[in-house]
Order: sequence, then C-alpha cells, then structure tokens
Amino acid sequence: MNSSSFLFICFLGFSILAFTLKKGIPHPFYQPKDWPKPTYNFKGNPLDYEKFELGRALFYDPILSRDSSISCASCHLQFTAFAHVDHKTSHGIEGRIGKRNAPGLANLAWRKLFHWDGGVLNLNAQAINPITHVDEMDMALDSLMYRLDRSPIYSAAFKRTFGTTDIRSFHLVKALAQFTVALISENSKYDKVQRGEDGLRFTDQEKKGLILFNNFCSSCHKPPFFASDDYKSNGLPIDPELLDFGRMTITGNKRDSLLFMVPTLRNIEYSFPYMHDGRISKLKDVIKHYTLLDYSNPLLSKELRKNPVRLSENEQKDLLAFLKTLTDKTFLFDERFKYSTIK
Ligand code: HEC
Ligand code: HEC
Repeated sequence: MNSSSFLFICFLGFSILAFTLKKGIPHPFYQPKDWPKPTYNFKGNPLDYEKFELGRALFYDPILSRDSSISCASCHLQFTAFAHVDHKTSHGIEGRIGKRNAPGLANLAWRKLFHWDGGVLNLNAQAINPITHVDEMDMALDSLMYRLDRSPIYSAAFKRTFGTTDIRSFHLVKALAQFTVALISENSKYDKVQRGEDGLRFTDQEKKGLILFNNFCSSCHKPPFFASDDYKSNGLPIDPELLDFGRMTITGNKRDSLLFMVPTLRNIEYSFPYMHDGRISKLKDVIKHYTLLDYSNPLLSKELRKNPVRLSENEQKDLLAFLKTLTDKTFLFDERFKYSTIK
C-alpha cells in the first residue's frame, strides 16, 4: 500500500468513527417535567444534533451580516442570558442603532409570539428579521445563500445535514432554530427548590419576596416561564424620540397602543438593561418603577390598576432577592451553547 492510500484509509476510518460518535450525541432539547407541551413545530424540523451544531456555528458567525462584522451573538450574549449589554437599544452593522432592546433568549420552544410587539408568529421565520433588517445585519437573503454555497465548510455541512447542495433560506432558519430551541433555562435556585433538589431552600428574605411576587407580579410574569404571550402595559410612557407604540404597530388597533410583550424574568439579574427600549438599567429601579406608578392611569393594564404595587424599602429588597433566585448559572455557562465552529 502506498502512503497516500494509507492516509486515505486512516481518514476514512476517522470519519466513520467521528460520524458514529456524533450520531450518539443527543440534541440538547428536552421536555422539562411538569411543563406544558412546546408550541414549536418539531415535525417540520426534527431534532438532530448535527443540525444543532450547524445552527450554533451560524449563530456565532458574522458571515450572516452584510459586512461580516456582526453575528447573532453580537446582540445575544450567553453570559447575559442571550440579551445584549452596554447599550439601551441594539447596535447593528456600521454602528447603526436599532429601536429596541435585544431580549434574552430562553425557552423559545414554548412561545406563541415573538418580538416586543408580537409581530413574529414563528421561531423559524424570526431569524429572517435580524438578517435582513437595515439596522441589524442588513444582508440580502440571495447574497447570503450565495455566500454559504461558496463556503466549503458550510456547503459541506448543509449537504451532510439537510442533504442539499442548493442551500435555501428555509434550511438556514431551520438550522438556526435547532440551536435556539435548545436554549432551555430551568435550573435556577427557584426550580431546584420547587423540585426539592440538592436540599436547597429559600432564605427567609426570598420567601417573603416570593409572596410579594405572587401578589403583584405573577399575574403577568407567569411561572414556569415568568412571561406570558399576552401584550400588556406596565405604565411606561412613550419615548418621544423612538415613538414605539408596541403591539399597535402590528394590529393597527388603537387599543393595543403601548402594549408590549411580557418578557421572561428568568436570569433577569443578568439581562440588563430592561424594557423594550432598555430605558431602565438596574433591577432595583425596575421594582421602584412599579412602586412609583400612577395607578389611576387608564392605559395601565388591569392586573396593575386593580392591584397597585405598594412596597416598603425592605419589601423591595425582598422582592429583589426572590428575582435573583431565577438566575440559572447552568444555562449561562452551558458549554453546549458556547461559541463553536463546525469542522
Ligand atoms: C443588531 C442586534 C441583533 C442581531 C444581530 C440579532 N438580534 Fe435577535 N433581537 C434583537 C432585538 C432588538 C430583538 C427584539 C426585536 C423586536 O422586538 O422588534 C431581537 C429578538 C430576537 C428573538 C425573539 C425573542 C423574543 O423574546 O421575542 C429571537 C429568537 C432572536 N432575536 C434571535 C436572533 C437570531 C437567531 C439572530 C441571528 C440570525 C439574531 N437574533 C440577531 C437584536 C438582534
Ligand atoms: C400588567 C402585567 C404586568 C405586571 C403585573 C408586572 N409586569 Fe413586569 N412587565 C410587564 C410588561 C408588559 C413588561 C415590558 C414593558 C416594556 O418593555 O414596555 C414588563 C417588564 C418587566 C421587567 C423587565 C424585563 C426585561 O427583560 O426587560 C421586569 C424586571 C419586570 N417587568 C418585573 C416585574 C415585577 C417585579 C413585577 C411585580 C412587582 C411586575 N413586573 C409586574 C408586565 C407586567
């Protein structure tokens, strides 16, 4: 046997070994016990570990933006629960500034609507927005498909995973969704206490905070997601420069003016700044916002109007202590969600 056929046989052997090993790796998505059934259509995009790897590589790759400077992860950083930091609203290519704060990404498989205004109905379709948005990645889809086709790594990866040499945008968004559905956060102290795990208990302060939370907050920020698919007003006045009317921009209905998504409070300690336009930077100031609200404001959603949040300084601290039990370090540091390329 000459040396080149020996090398070829070694290469083949390693490829087969790597392939069999990979086949054994489970996709990170799972169904947490006692949670409702996910809304994501898994039949249309069956879980597959190699597609997850491809989606993760794409999520972290600036190749998706016109000038190859911005990736999904530029605005969605793992250590801040996949929200952005440093600025109020998102920053796209060439320093362009968007109108909204990038929300954290977690438990997306259970969501019915996406974006602060609920303008997106489907997680797959969602990814088209940041890619094509002028203030975000500003990339034309056909140019992006051409780019991925020309990349030896991506063309091989799409061929391997989707069995296609003709990469289309629906392949791309499915690969990205294989990654984003996997972002499950349910290992916070709160969850462990609920499950009676590790002998963990709430401190007295956290217990007091939980009671306040149940009295004043959980009607909108509903467990286990600490969010809801309803659109509400928590009393933020309009920003005269951004003029963002929230849900009304989608429905055209005046009654939806200034209603916004009820965002998840999971990992809220880390996903600052807060609100659709990032106008509040500290969590304790969010609590203060609720205590200082004008409860006679007719635009305020009824859950708050009927039940004004009146909290002493100490109670505010208790509530803050409870909110911090929603921090899930397993999620924030999960190796499987870190930057990685495909080979
Ligand atoms: C320039 C910053 C930026 C980039 C780049 C970006 N996003 Fe976002 N993302 C945002 C903002 C801002 C929102 C909220 C948009 C809105 O409400 O109108 C958002 C919303 C989302 C949501 C919906 C979250 C929710 O709770 O409704 C998902 C999912 C998401 N992005 C995934 C991605 C993916 C995947 C990519 C890469 C293809 C990406 N994002 C690139 C800023 C960005
Ligand atoms: C009427 C429903 C409702 C109630 C009750 C409510 N919230 Fe909210 N909350 C919202 C909405 C809507 C937003 C987003 C508002 C926006 O960005 O314009 C929000 C945003 C937040 C945010 C910012 C999240 C982020 O990622 O930016 C935090 C923190 C928060 N609420 C905590 C609380 C706490 C603590 C309570 C109880 C004292 C509470 N909320 C009660 C509807 C509610």
